[in-house]
Amino acid sequence: MKSFPPTNTIELASLDWDADGQPLSSVFGDVYFSKANGLEETRHVFLKHNQLPERWAALAETSHFAIAETGFGSGLNFLAAWQLWLQTAPESAQLHFVTVEKFPLNKSDLTRALALWPELKYLADQLIETYPVFVGTGFHRLNFMNGRIKLTLIIDDAAQGFSKLLASTHPLYMRNGAKVDAWFLDGFAPSKNPQMWSDDLFSCIRNLSKPETTAATFSAAAIVKNGLKHACFAIQKVAGFGRKREMVKAQFTAEPEPLNPDDYCYRGSFSPYPVPWAIDGNKTQYSEKRALIIGGGLAGCHSARALAERGWHVKILERHSALAQEGSGNPQGVLYAKLSPLDEAQAAFNLASLQYALNFYRPLWGSANKNKIGDQCGTLQLAYKHSEADLHELLKAKFAHTDQLVEFVSAEMASQLAGISLAQSGLFFPQAGWIDPRKLCAYLVDHPNIQVEYDFQVSQLSCIENNWLVKSDKDGSQTAPVVIIASAKDAISFEQANHLPIKSIRGQVTFIPESSTRATLKTVVCAEGYISPAQEGVFCTGATFNLKDTETATRISDHQTNLGNLHEHLPAFEVDARAEDLEGRVAFRCSLPDYLPCVGGLPLVDRLVEDFAPLRKNARAGITTSGSYWRGLYINIGHGARGLAYTPLCAELLAAQINDEHIPMPRELANALNPARFVIRDLTRNKR
Ligand SMILES: Cc1cc2nc3c(=O)[nH]c(=O)nc-3n(C[C@H](O)[C@H](O)[C@H](O)COP(=O)(O)OP(=O)(O)OC[C@H]3O[C@@H](n4cnc5c(N)ncnc54)[C@H](O)[C@@H]3O)c2cc1C
Ligand SMILES: C[S@@+](CC[C@H](N)C(=O)[O-])C[C@H]1O[C@@H](n2cnc3c(N)ncnc32)[C@H](O)[C@@H]1O
Repeated sequence: MKSFPPTNTIELASLDWDADGQPLSSVFGDVYFSKANGLEETRHVFLKHNQLPERWAALAETSHFAIAETGFGSGLNFLAAWQLWLQTAPESAQLHFVTVEKFPLNKSDLTRALALWPELKYLADQLIETYPVFVGTGFHRLNFMNGRIKLTLIIDDAAQGFSKLLASTHPLYMRNGAKVDAWFLDGFAPSKNPQMWSDDLFSCIRNLSKPETTAATFSAAAIVKNGLKHACFAIQKVAGFGRKREMVKAQFTAEPEPLNPDDYCYRGSFSPYPVPWAIDGNKTQYSEKRALIIGGGLAGCHSARALAERGWHVKILERHSALAQEGSGNPQGVLYAKLSPLDEAQAAFNLASLQYALNFYRPLWGSANKNKIGDQCGTLQLAYKHSEADLHELLKAKFAHTDQLVEFVSAEMASQLAGISLAQSGLFFPQAGWIDPRKLCAYLVDHPNIQVEYDFQVSQLSCIENNWLVKSDKDGSQTAPVVIIASAKDAISFEQANHLPIKSIRGQVTFIPESSTRATLKTVVCAEGYISPAQEGVFCTGATFNLKDTETATRISDHQTNLGNLHEHLPAFEVDARAEDLEGRVAFRCSLPDYLPCVGGLPLVDRLVEDFAPLRKNARAGITTSGSYWRGLYINIGHGARGLAYTPLCAELLAAQINDEHIPMPRELANALNPARFVIRDLTRNKR
C-alpha cells in the first residue's frame, strides 16, 4: 500500500497560562494581548487607529468592508471588530474579516482565552460553536448573523496565506485582488517572531491594498516601519496603549506605477509566471445588484441565498411548478464527501466544501427548529472493499485528532452507532446525516430579496448593452445585469455554455416501506450505495449510476441493483419485498470530466482560443493577456453525486466573485473550478 505522508501539516499553538489566567505562547515567549487590558488595547490600536467607528458609520447600505489581520490567535481582535460593527455599520452591510494564523489554538484553549471577556460572550459563543477542526493548511470561511459577519480564517504562514488571496502571482495582475480596507498587523513582537515580519509579507500587504487602505500595529519596531514604507504606506507614530510609548498607524499612499506587459512576454521561451487566463480583464462592479438565476435546484437556491444575504435582489426562473423537481428532488440525500490522503485540488475542495456545509446546515436540522431539513444522525462510510479499507488506513495520518469531523471506527463500534450489525470498520462523520433537499430549497428561498418564477423554461439568453435578456419558451422575458446558469446538465442548451464537457449520469433510488423490514437504522450508512434512517415510514436507498442512459422511468432491474448492494454490504438489513413491488425515483446528476464543479464567469470561448493559442505549443508560454469573460454571465453546475456538500461553498464562492469580495478559498482552488479551464486544458493538449 502506497503511503501519502501529509505534506501541509500544521502545528497547533502551545500555551502557558499566567497567574491571571492570560495566555502566553510557550514557543515565542510572548503574550497574546496586553496584560493590562487586551480588549482596550485592541480598541485603541486596531479599531481607533484605523478610524473604524467613523468609517463604518459612513458606509453605504449593502456595502462591505474588509479587514485583514496577521495572527488570529484567540480571536479577540475579530470579536472586538464584530462588536463595533454592530454598533456603527448599517445593518445591511457586511464585515469581511480575513486573518492568517500559522499556529491555531485548539478549541478548548480558545474557549478558555475568550472566557476572559464576559462582555463579548454573546459573540464568542458563536465563534466557539463553529470553530473548525484543522486538517493542515487551508481556508475556513465562517458566517455569522446570516452572513452579516464573515470570517475567513486562513491556516498558514502569514505571507503564504495572503499570497493565496492575490488574484494571480503574475506581476501584471497581482494587484487585481486589492480589496483590503484596513490592516490589523498583529502577531508576536518582531523581536520574538522576526520570521513573520518578512519582505514577502509586506509585498503581499502592498499588493492587497488600495488607495483608501489604512493599517495599524502595536509595534513601532524598525522592521515594521520600514516594511510598511516599502509597501507604499505613509506611517505615523502615535501613543501606544497603556505603558507602551508608541505604536504605528499608516495610510496607503500610492498606486504603484503600471507595469509594461512587454517586459513579461518571454517570447518563445518558458515563462516563470503563470498564464493569466483566469483573470477577468474586464471585470467591473455592478451598480445594480439584481440577478436572475436559471434553475431552482440546490445550486440555484444556494446561489440565490448567498446573493440575497449580500443585499442583491434575485429572481429564480424554474421550468417546473415547484422547486427541486430534478436532481435535487429525492426525499433524502446524504451529506458526505470523499476524503483523500492527497493534497491536490479534488481533495482540498472535498474537505473545504464538507466543512463549510457542516457549518451551514448546523442551525437547520435541530429537531426544535421550524426549518428542520433532515436529521443530523451521523454518516458512516464503510470499508466495504479492499481498496476502501486501504484508503481509510491512508487517511489515518492526515485525519488524526479530528474526531469532531471524522472518527475511525471498528466494525463493532460502527454496528453500535448504526444500530445494526455491520461487518466492516469505517469512517464516521458525527456532524453529518441526511437532508431533504426539497425542504432545504424551500428554506433557502425564504428570504425577502428572493422571488421565484415557476413554469418559466428559459430558451434563450442574449446580452444587450450590459443587460441580459432571458427569454422563455412561451414568449415571456426577463432582464438583469447578472445571470447565473444553475440548470445542471441542461446548461448545455445555452450557446454560451455549450462548449462545456458536461456529462449526465442517470441515478435511481428505491423506497423501502418500513413495514417490509424488521431492521432499524440510527445513522446513514454508505457502502456501494447508501441508506438513510426511515423518514415518514420509508427508507430511501440508492443510487444506481449510469452514463449515457436517458430513461426517465424507474426500472425493476435498478431496484434489484439497489437491493443487491444492500444485501451484500448490510446483510442484517433484510427486506421482505420484491423489486417489482417497490417504488423509486429517477434523476440525472451533472458532472464534469475532472469531477469538480464548474463555478464562475463563463468565458468568451473564441476570444480565449485566439488569445491563448500559443499554449498549443507551450503550456507555459509567456502570454500576458488576461482571460475574456462574458460580462454578468455566471454558472454554477457540476455537483455530481455530492450536491449537498458542494453547493453551499460554491454558492459562497460565486456570490463573492460577483460582489467583488475576497473569495472563500485559495486562488488556485477557485481556478480549478473556473469554467474556462476546459478550453485552456484543450489548448495545452493541442485539441482546439
Ligand atoms: C439518484 C440520485 C441520488 C443522489 N443522492 C445524493 C446524495 O445522497 N447526496 C448528495 O449530496 N447528492 C446526491 N445526488 C446529487 C445531487 O442531487 C445533485 O448534485 C444536486 O441535486 C445538483 O443540484 P443542481 O441544482 O445543480 O441540479 P438540479 O437539482 O437538477 O437543478 C437544476 C434545475 O434547473 C432547472 N432547469 C433546467 N433547465 C432549465 C431551463 N432551461 N429553464 C428553467 N429551469 C431549468 C431544472 O428544472 C432543475 O430544477 C444524487 C443525485 C441523484 C440523481
Ligand atoms: C499576539 S498573537 C495575536 C492575537 C490575536 N490577534 C488575538 O486577537 O487574539 C500573535 C499570533 O500570531 C501568530 N503567528 C505567529 N507567527 C505567525 C506567522 N508566521 N504567520 C501567521 N501567524 C503567525 C501566533 O500563532 C499568534 O496566534
